[in-house]
Amino acid sequence: MIRKFSRPLIIIAMTCSWAMLYGQAPGKIESALSCKKCHEKVYDQWSSSQHARSTPVNNVLFAKIYELSQKDTDGQTKLYCIRCHAPVTQTNGDVDLLQEITNEGVTCDVCHSITQLSDHPGSWPNVYEPGEVKRSARRDVEPEGHKSAYSEIFENGKICSGCHGDMLDIPGTRSCGDLTICDTDFEWQGTTFAREGKSCVACHMTGVVEKSFFRAEKSIIQHDFPGAYSPAKLQAAAKLSLDIKEFEGEVIARVEIVNDGVAHLLPTGPPARLVFLKVSALDQNDREIWSNFESNQAVEDPFGIFHIVFADQNGKVPSMPWLAVRIVKDTRLRPGETRRLIYKFPGEGVAKVTAKLYYRLAPPPLLDKFEIVDETLRTPYLMADEARSIGAE
Ligand code: HEC
Ligand code: HEC
Ligand code: HEC
Ligand code: HEC
Ligand code: HEC
Repeated sequence: MIRKFSRPLIIIAMTCSWAMLYGQAPGKIESALSCKKCHEKVYDQWSSSQHARSTPVNNVLFAKIYELSQKDTDGQTKLYCIRCHAPVTQTNGDVDLLQEITNEGVTCDVCHSITQLSDHPGSWPNVYEPGEVKRSARRDVEPEGHKSAYSEIFENGKICSGCHGDMLDIPGTRSCGDLTICDTDFEWQGTTFAREGKSCVACHMTGVVEKSFFRAEKSIIQHDFPGAYSPAKLQAAAKLSLDIKEFEGEVIARVEIVNDGVAHLLPTGPPARLVFLKVSALDQNDREIWSNFESNQAVEDPFGIFHIVFADQNGKVPSMPWLAVRIVKDTRLRPGETRRLIYKFPGEGVAKVTAKLYYRLAPPPLLDKFEIVDETLRTPYLMADEARSIGAE
């Protein structure tokens, strides 16, 4: 990847394309409620998705982190973060997020007004042309109430990349523009999935066909965008296997994790995400007598935790992305990768060994810092598990 452009150039370029957009956009982004009249099922699915919860008004984790980033950078991240999190701002200029439509987040008309991704070093801001014409991968449709146009980027999934592509050059950061914070699109490129034409849309918008005489919805493409907030999606992500052997009074547990269901890193996206492995030895009464960590896995079992960790310029770890200058650790699972881990422990009293793979949306210390109590964010999701009894084979 080319990362040679200096930051001032990029900021100027971004400002220009924004100004250009104002000139270009004759229409306004419409509210999802106006689509609901004729696309009720799609509306219901979309409202349950994270796309409908991407602004500070409806997403506490984003709200707190957005606020801190502005404090740390004297407000320089203010416009930057909302480009993707409150994309309606790109057409109405409501950067203080006061209007209801802005807080619909990644709303229907945001996506269906994207005509292209601008050619931009390292990232590809969307070009929005809101108006009568709604774009999609469909050709022979006759909508009521609006016009329709076929667009290739809806078919090949490129429409997702303007926001799920690179997030670098956060203004006001010290990362010198060389540090990729998250780039799901780049992670996907070059994978077998990408070569076979299996795009973001193919995995995250599985088609459901439904016919109705009364409504617009003849065929419905799933719009709930399952990802890390979806237990079912997380269970489809990786395979886990466990093998145990006893040798000279010790148990040797071999764990294998295969990232075969995800076409990008696992975990992908914001650096707060992490996947961790818990291995336990149980006695006959299912009481735990050994485990791979007690309280702080990052210290006790650093290889059993899959995440990216940054350091800031003073060497403080972990660092928030906007203060990061280097990567300290990156143990995320690559697409298609098989990761093997071996644990050894005393065999006395061990009747059973279990291995469990979990997903966390954000680490508890971060949630504590922001006093976030939301159970959805606090509870780790079980992705896969396996158990083996001693002497079973
Ligand atoms: C994150 C972007 C995104 C958002 C938000 C979004 N859509 Fe879509 N929509 C798409 C894509 C991509 C397709 C094409 C998928 C395909 O054909 O494989 C699509 C397809 C459609 C279709 C055609 C359905 C079909 O079965 O072919 C309709 C209708 C539609 N969207 C309406 C809506 C409505 C209404 C909302 C809001 C409630 C909405 N969309 C929100 C990206 C989005
Ligand atoms: C008055 C009813 C009505 C309203 C309001 C409406 N649509 Fe549609 N739309 C339709 C009908 C009918 C179709 C054709 C459906 C089919 O053939 O399956 C359609 C098809 C679509 C398609 C697929 C075809 C294309 O244009 O690419 C998209 C995308 C779409 N609508 C988006 C939207 C969005 C976004 C909104 C809100 C801003 C909206 N629609 C509001 C009736 C409506
Ligand atoms: C082969 C299927 C597949 C393809 C293709 C795919 N994904 Fe995923 N994606 C998954 C699965 C499974 C998960 C849940 C596990 C996880 O979070 O990594 C996921 C998770 C996600 C998440 C949530 C991650 C988080 O931590 O919040 C996002 C965002 C995402 N994918 C975006 C994309 C984008 C953008 C593309 C295209 C560049 C894409 N995906 C292509 C299967 C796929
Ligand atoms: C205009 C920007 C934008 C576009 C275009 C966009 N997304 Fe997103 N997407 C976001 C943002 C912002 C979030 C994070 C919302 C939040 O704060 O949790 C997100 C979250 C997600 C998630 C994560 C849900 C979870 O459970 O963690 C998935 C999956 C996803 N998007 C898939 C897609 C796919 C597939 C497309 C293309 C059809 C797409 N997105 C297009 C901005 C966008
Ligand atoms: C290039 C587009 C883009 C920019 C710019 C961006 N984000 Fe995001 N952000 C996303 C997407 C897409 C997701 C969802 C990805 C996923 O879940 O894997 C996301 C997810 C998040 C989440 C997790 C939200 C949740 O519900 O779990 C936080 C927190 C976050 N971003 C904070 C920020 C902050 C703070 C900034 C500015 C410094 C920022 N983002 C700038 C695209 C962006």
